[in-house]
Amino acid sequence: MKISIVGSGYVGLVTGACLAELGHEVLCVDNDTHKIEELRQGRSPIYEPGLEELVRVNARESRLSFSTSVQEATAHGTIVFICVGTPPGPDGEADLSFVEAVSREIALNMEEYRLVVEKSTVPVQTGQWVQRTIAHHVRSGVEFDVASNPEFLREGSAIRDFMHPDRVVIGTSSDRAASLLVKLYEPLNAPLLLTDINSAELIKHSANAFLALKICFINAVSRICEKSGADVVRVAKGIGLDRRIGVDFLQAGIGFGGSCFPKDVEAFIGISSKLGYDFKLLREVLAINQEQRQVVLTKLEASLGDLAGKRIGLLGLTFKPDTDDLRNAPSLDIVRLLVERDADVRAYDPKGMERARGAGEAMEVVHYCDDPYEVAENADALVVVTEWDVFRRLDLQRIHGAMRRPFVIDGRNIYDPARMRRLGFEYHGVGR
Ligand code: UGA
Repeated sequence: MKISIVGSGYVGLVTGACLAELGHEVLCVDNDTHKIEELRQGRSPIYEPGLEELVRVNARESRLSFSTSVQEATAHGTIVFICVGTPPGPDGEADLSFVEAVSREIALNMEEYRLVVEKSTVPVQTGQWVQRTIAHHVRSGVEFDVASNPEFLREGSAIRDFMHPDRVVIGTSSDRAASLLVKLYEPLNAPLLLTDINSAELIKHSANAFLALKICFINAVSRICEKSGADVVRVAKGIGLDRRIGVDFLQAGIGFGGSCFPKDVEAFIGISSKLGYDFKLLREVLAINQEQRQVVLTKLEASLGDLAGKRIGLLGLTFKPDTDDLRNAPSLDIVRLLVERDADVRAYDPKGMERARGAGEAMEVVHYCDDPYEVAENADALVVVTEWDVFRRLDLQRIHGAMRRPFVIDGRNIYDPARMRRLGFEYHGVGR
């Protein structure tokens, strides 16, 4: 099938490369000429395991090509996916101006039947509005359908998530659109959920909000664990083994970040309030998540007192491992709070340091190190911010020897507390 993808960011590029891998002829479009140039040369503008290889192989086999023209996208694909950004507006609600502009441009260029599919995360009822926008601009007699097909890809494992989804959600009121999308996803052999557009859109916001809620719940429990002497890792396992709850997304830590949960929860609160419901539960989720980042500072100050001039080493900066993405990463708040206190901040991240350097004033003050051992050199404290595998395999004796004060705050619970204490560290996990 001929497929076009408008918007070649994380979602668009992974979707395009994976659909090409399934044998479709895919054209990925983006208005960032630099990005398209890089892609044409076989380089992925983002770090995502396996993506660059997938792009290269499929481009070589002529199943994947790139362009900056929405007009070309409309001419090429029977199915045109909209994967443009929906950044938060000033009031936290999703800014849909890119979605609107692209819908209009697709409509103006449509010469025969097209199925326009929103994959960008959008508030419920956006599909209806895309439908009206296209109907308003398309030339008369040209047929089209609109569908919602939300993505559930996690950065760092996006290709695996695409190829082995728990489910594929297809929201549309048109049989023609439904059968095109069913055929498209058939090779994945995944459970298909056919539904209306509004429900599909709501599935996406609800799924992300529920996962964010799960993380905040266990983080709140971790606070009680710290006060009572219980171990949150055991509590999480104990509740997670109940199949009604499930073990996933119950890892206590320094809170969630990334380009999705914070933005989507806020947008969900926004659309709920617009529809006349005050989603207080989700407002609390955002508050708990923000507090969790502050806990690191509280622990540092409780042990070290005034942080001015203290050398604090950060292991990891990205919002999660296996990505170079720092959007809304807890590290950004932690660094800002440390810099405000005049701490001497050092950091190492396997993939995130280049982006970190450009991520705001506080990040410019950080001393970026070549490896974790340099971070530990004469440090008064080490904080595990991201659970990269390389940090699990450190020579902890060497780390201990390098530090001025062997004090570790493990924001992701990657180390065994008993072993850390045996090695002579003053060790604080989260909720243990
Ligand atoms: C998330 C969802 O998991 C995807 O299903 C969804 O498609 C995506 O958002 C999106 O809307 O595009 P992502 O943000 O890439 O994916 O990464 P996650 O693995 O969900 O992690 C999000 C944050 O939660 C990270 O900061 C991670 O450290 C944190 N987290 C996750 C925890 O603190 N504890 C956990 O148990 C799990």
